[in-house]
Amino acid sequence: MHPSAEELNASIAKVNSNVLEMLSDYGKNSYFPSLGIMAQAGEAKKKAHKYNATIGIATENGAAMHLGCIKDMIPDLSPGEIFTYAPSSGVPALREAWFDKMRKENPTLGDHQTSQPLVTNALTHGLSIVGELFLDRGDKIVVPGHFWENYELLYSTKLGAEFATYDLYNDAGRFNVDGFKETLIAALKEKGKVVTILNFPNNPTGYSLYKDEAPLIADAIKEASSFGKIVAVTDDAYFSLFFEDNMLEESLFGHIANLDENVLAIKVDGATKEEFVWGLRVGFITFSTKSNEDLSGLYKSLEQKVSGCIRATVSNISNLSQNLVLKALKHSDFEKQKNEKINTMKARAIETKRVLDAKEEFNEEWTYYPFNAGYFMCLKLKNLKANELRLKVLNDYGVGTIALGPTDLRVAFSCLNVDQIEDVFDCIFKAAKDLSK
Ligand SMILES: Cc1ncc(COP(=O)(O)O)c(C=O)c1O
Repeated sequence: MHPSAEELNASIAKVNSNVLEMLSDYGKNSYFPSLGIMAQAGEAKKKAHKYNATIGIATENGAAMHLGCIKDMIPDLSPGEIFTYAPSSGVPALREAWFDKMRKENPTLGDHQTSQPLVTNALTHGLSIVGELFLDRGDKIVVPGHFWENYELLYSTKLGAEFATYDLYNDAGRFNVDGFKETLIAALKEKGKVVTILNFPNNPTGYSLYKDEAPLIADAIKEASSFGKIVAVTDDAYFSLFFEDNMLEESLFGHIANLDENVLAIKVDGATKEEFVWGLRVGFITFSTKSNEDLSGLYKSLEQKVSGCIRATVSNISNLSQNLVLKALKHSDFEKQKNEKINTMKARAIETKRVLDAKEEFNEEWTYYPFNAGYFMCLKLKNLKANELRLKVLNDYGVGTIALGPTDLRVAFSCLNVDQIEDVFDCIFKAAKDLSK
């Protein structure tokens, strides 16, 4: 093991040795070269006021060398904000801005100390880093039966982790806390350590938690933590898209950030869906755990391990994208513009529910899973195979939907205008009737 990794591990163990034991083999070995090129260049950026001959970019007249035809497309940013490399951990001002935003939006965190967010290549990359740092082959990952399909590629195909699933809903159509707790405890009894991902609003169902559900989940994790170590990840991809009353309008992260020394909470979030910038690829990863010690040494070490992981894969995230998101967060019109878009999405969700509830005949072909947030809803088909119906509605009616498993058909109301929604479900219904003839 590299001495730098040993040092990081020692500083983690000094604060909370459980966190060290949660790390995968790679996680234990990961470090950011403190005397490497990126670190030396970072030091020079601050201090080399005469000549900076460190990093592998070209400069001209004191600025990053660049082609005018590219710069002209982005007049409001400087060459330094567009063309140069960002640090592996992310643009410091963006990390600070996201940290402030996260603290403001998650009042349950109180004054509990968390890490700084590190910038990832959007949420997929943050989730991938979680896997690399915390999962070895054969480790258990606990998720509901309805999960974003890419978890499979990320954790099973690539890392060889084993899925343990529970039904997302209980009989009352709310989050199945009991099933979650039982699955968590069974996995812990078997392996002593689990990673669990809590994704609200959920893809594919569009379900998110009501306020009274968050403490129940926190209690379940707390109880399960007496059986072993839990890496509890909140996948907050669709954060802020909450469409009903009494919903938890902050991340579950706040409720699990300071639970137990056996629990490491990780918040994976980003600008992707929250700020409607899918292709900019800006996401974040933030850590929190409980300890009687000052947590800064542990967080700094985890940040170094994440930076090493980023350096070893994509090196750093688009500086241009990071600066665009940073400027947006600081823009005086940002909140107003964002709220307008959230309201547009809410109107689509409400219309979707209205249409589904208005037509009794729909009951012949499907029920639907409770939804109240995010981008999607899922039909649960009664008579037909989901893929068969998907193909029929696509080929005969020109309407695209996603078949998931044998019975579920996912509809993204996020990309339908309010006045198109009724027609979409009418087409799906007609296609279902065509097939039943
Ligand atoms: C639940 C969930 N998590 C993460 C992601 C990945 O988002 P990103 O585009 O930021 O990588 C998605 C994207 O569809 C998602 O649905």
